[in-house]
Amino acid sequence: MKEKHYTFRLPSKWTKTQALMKNSQVARWVPATKKLTTANLRAMLGQYAMIYIKPDRGSKGIGVMQIAKSGGSGSTVYRCQTGIKVRSFSSYESMEKYVLAFAGIKDYLIQKGIQLTQFNGRAYDLRVMVQIGPRQQWETTGMVGRLAQQGRIVTNGSQGAESVSVDILFPKPQTKRLKARLNHLGLTTANHLQKLYPAIREIGLDVAFDPQFKPWILEVNTFPEPHPFMKLEDQRMFRKIIRYGKAYGRYKGFRV
Ligand SMILES: Nc1ncnc2c1ncn2[C@@H]1O[C@H](COP(=O)(O)OP(=O)(O)OP(=O)(O)O)[C@@H](O)[C@H]1O
Ligand SMILES: [Mg+2]
Repeated sequence: MKEKHYTFRLPSKWTKTQALMKNSQVARWVPATKKLTTANLRAMLGQYAMIYIKPDRGSKGIGVMQIAKSGGSGSTVYRCQTGIKVRSFSSYESMEKYVLAFAGIKDYLIQKGIQLTQFNGRAYDLRVMVQIGPRQQWETTGMVGRLAQQGRIVTNGSQGAESVSVDILFPKPQTKRLKARLNHLGLTTANHLQKLYPAIREIGLDVAFDPQFKPWILEVNTFPEPHPFMKLEDQRMFRKIIRYGKAYGRYKGFRV
């Protein structure tokens, strides 16, 4: 018998965003997203005080920049941060020039910036893992917090973020409700994507909570790394993720 080998992926964040927008339930959780053009940059910064720009086919938080404007009309300051590098501009034109040069010739997206919830002064988002289980039904197999390194604008493990249990991050009285909200979001998204892409078997969602704990889907990873779960002391979610994945031909290099 031929060995199973799972290869499905959608590398373009733009394609994935458009797919998510086709379902009104899911679309509510997606921050406004546009392709980076001079016109769209101006429009998005007119509408939002903070935006993110990111490569259409990026990974590990590389090439991601946060742009925040402050001050009133006439004295607006634009603050651009990538990694730990910060540049501030007092004119729109100089900021625009810098941002377009940073993006270069690559396809880039602009997304409404979400003010991430914090824990001990550090921003965090969530990785929610949803997979096809043994009964061929979608199941949320893991959720974990990714706590950014102090002063960073991305929560990728490769940029110093730590994995922290959601039981530690979430305010105690709300933990159950917030977990249920993430579970619902993950399952709804997975079921929708499977209608468009029947071969899909797993998704790893990057979800941000804003200060009101409204969830926002920053990205859907179609070939997610299990590392955020591997780094937790409690290995139960990690083992389940690998076990489920192996059933459809994923995670060959991992033993549990
Ligand atoms: N709109 C946004 N608002 C706030 N933070 C964001 C936003 N978009 C991205 N981020 C931060 O930047 C990180 C990286 O962005 P994203 O997940 O979109 O790309 P990536 O991680 O480079 O891609 P991949 O997950 O495929 O490796 C997110 O995990 C989050 O911490
Ligand atoms: Mg990501």
